[in-house]
Amino acid sequence: MLGMKKRMFTGLQPSGALHIGNYFGALKPAVDLAQDLDSMVMIADLHALTSLKDPSALKANIISGVKDYIGAGLDPAQTVIFQQSQVQEHTELAWIFECLVTVPFLQQAHAYKDKVAKGLEANAGLFNYPMLMAADILLYETDIVPVGADQRQHVEYAREAAAKFNLAYSDTFKEPAEHILDTVGTIPGTDGKKMSKSYGNTIPLFGTKDEIAKAVMGIVTDSAGDIPENVYAIHKLFKTEADLAPVYEGNKGKYKNLKEALIEDIDAFIAPMRERRDAVTDADVSRILTEGSARARERAAATMKIVRERVGILL
Ligand code: TRP
Repeated sequence: MLGMKKRMFTGLQPSGALHIGNYFGALKPAVDLAQDLDSMVMIADLHALTSLKDPSALKANIISGVKDYIGAGLDPAQTVIFQQSQVQEHTELAWIFECLVTVPFLQQAHAYKDKVAKGLEANAGLFNYPMLMAADILLYETDIVPVGADQRQHVEYAREAAAKFNLAYSDTFKEPAEHILDTVGTIPGTDGKKMSKSYGNTIPLFGTKDEIAKAVMGIVTDSAGDIPENVYAIHKLFKTEADLAPVYEGNKGKYKNLKEALIEDIDAFIAPMRERRDAVTDADVSRILTEGSARARERAAATMKIVRERVGILL
């Protein structure tokens, strides 16, 4: 329809403190897109249950997840921010999709195989994870799903779920597209490998300056070249190569100076986000989630009415 904005939808698993890899790979693209699109952001607490069995940690993570998004620049007046478990249509639609896909199809999921290979329990929730995520996305007539590169296949699963439903019943769901920032590439961690909590090579996103300094001082440098590659790779996220050229030229071989410059640049970048995040109270979070979830529920209920009709359970 003319003048209708496209809808963006994304989710964040509330699994604890975020790092700068999460920011550049997933949060920032979502916050940027939200400026121009009709946007919804969901705290995927039911997904978190696949691996987190600590109620007080989960509760704390849900609250901090909302604060993280607002700190990163999301405006709750503009974006519907909601909690997955407060909208029961998600689990209902997931079940319907699970009845349309086969076990071998789900067995192809990289994320599932990786998690099990890392020692996570192969519970049925983890196995069905892609169908709950498909339900998240498809309940809201989503056009665009900003996610990190590791979630590409999950968005493909959502398209497959839509296609399978449309084929089995009638044309109901539109197929969403992922939005992945390939230009950013993989965010390197302090050891040069992909930044990931499971490698212990992260720089905290909303850390204090001391925490940032500790992580940066731990960046692995080899003593061979003039430029410490691992420091430079992270520095490039915060400053242009043109801005960095004189700094690295003037400090050849002086790794400590370069690390100190990086600490200052990260801190200057994060400070305003940290302040915005600190200004959000737990009461704000609870109000935002209650309001957001009510709006999401209204939309989800409208979709589910059609779905129930089409599958033959609405009498
Ligand atoms: N699986 C996503 C992740 O771990 C989180 C998520 C859940 C999600 N539901 C979603 C992302 C729907 C995008 C759309 O990052």
